[in-house]
Amino acid sequence: MAFENKRAAGIKSSPSMAIAMAARKLAAHGRDIIDLSLGEPDFEPPPHVAEAACAAIRKGRVRYGAAAGTEELRQAVVDKFRRENKLDYGLEEVMVANGAKQILFDVFLATLEPGDEVIIPTPCWVSYGDIVALNGGTPVYVTCGRETGFKITPEKLEAAITPKTRWLMLNSPSNPTGAIYSQEEYRALGQVLARHCQVLVISDEIYEHILLTDVAFISFAKACAGLRHRTLIVNGVSKAYAMTGWRVGYAAGPKALIAALNKMQSQSVTSVSVVAQAAALAALTGDQSFVGNAAAIFTARSKIMADNLAGIDGIDFTPPEGAFYAFVGIERLLGRKTAAGEVITDDTVFASHLLNEFGLSGVPGVAFGAPGFIRLSIAASDRELEGACERLAAMVYSLGL
Ligand SMILES: Cc1ncc(COP(=O)(O)O)c(C=O)c1O
Repeated sequence: MAFENKRAAGIKSSPSMAIAMAARKLAAHGRDIIDLSLGEPDFEPPPHVAEAACAAIRKGRVRYGAAAGTEELRQAVVDKFRRENKLDYGLEEVMVANGAKQILFDVFLATLEPGDEVIIPTPCWVSYGDIVALNGGTPVYVTCGRETGFKITPEKLEAAITPKTRWLMLNSPSNPTGAIYSQEEYRALGQVLARHCQVLVISDEIYEHILLTDVAFISFAKACAGLRHRTLIVNGVSKAYAMTGWRVGYAAGPKALIAALNKMQSQSVTSVSVVAQAAALAALTGDQSFVGNAAAIFTARSKIMADNLAGIDGIDFTPPEGAFYAFVGIERLLGRKTAAGEVITDDTVFASHLLNEFGLSGVPGVAFGAPGFIRLSIAASDRELEGACERLAAMVYSLGL
């Protein structure tokens, strides 16, 4: 019996989750697996986070919360934008949801009419397109290659806009490429957007604090102040404070849009767990040294990857500017044969051979709309990263011509 409607049937489960599950299954059967498929920090949040959650429980702060988030947490979000991004938002211009992911869900649910288009530059995070499609929109993917630093250019943006375009989806630093848009690049995009008043912008800034070089981060709303009334900033505590499982994200944007998102929340999840909100409040208002320390750890790991990957012939790798992924080009290896005679036809076959024969789990580029790549998370120990590069090298050298 078929249970799914057409909309659900057209959606795939998260490919990175699927690979991680396959890796876990092999590990459970005793295989030595290095799993670099999932995008989450491999350390604990700062201790005051858990303490705040426990204190909330002890004090009995466990009732239903407001759809937009607790007032304390929203105030902390307002303060964060002022402190870190030099952006002034009022309490009614911010909201809190179950992760950045739910904000995206809320926004497309609340704003898209059937067939409305959302421009998504690729490579992009695996979930954007499916969240758009689930909410009746049409994802319009725009391929952005190595030659433009994996970023959308004003020309490509102009060419992609149609009367049906409702949103442009930006993500800097990017998952999977680690690319960061500069102020000038954003302003050039802003000039195009200024000519198309119906187009709104989502700026996914979830990796804002994971900066691996001296390339600076700037919020789209800061770079293009004139477009602030059409911009929704999406962020959260998952990556900055290693709080992926707490499920707290936040957004800032025009009051009427935030009110629409809150309406979606109130009729779906009611609110984010108030215990998780107490933890996120502690993260945003407590000692911030964790954030810089984590970025320093990721920077050192990124260097390990760059040093080790530089020695492997046949792959193409540009070290990331931000986030915590190595996005490795394997296009030159396609068409080669494994020792057993199997042809590596694409990145999916490459990733499955890498996992099954060499015990290294990464996500094929096709999942990010970028075939010919494999994404390796660098959120792992130095030893695991060195081991991962050895395994990748072993596979590459095992491939005949
Ligand atoms: C680019 C990007 N945006 C959003 C998210 C979702 O973050 P959250 O845990 O806040 O839902 C992720 C998680 O991997 C991501 O990589």
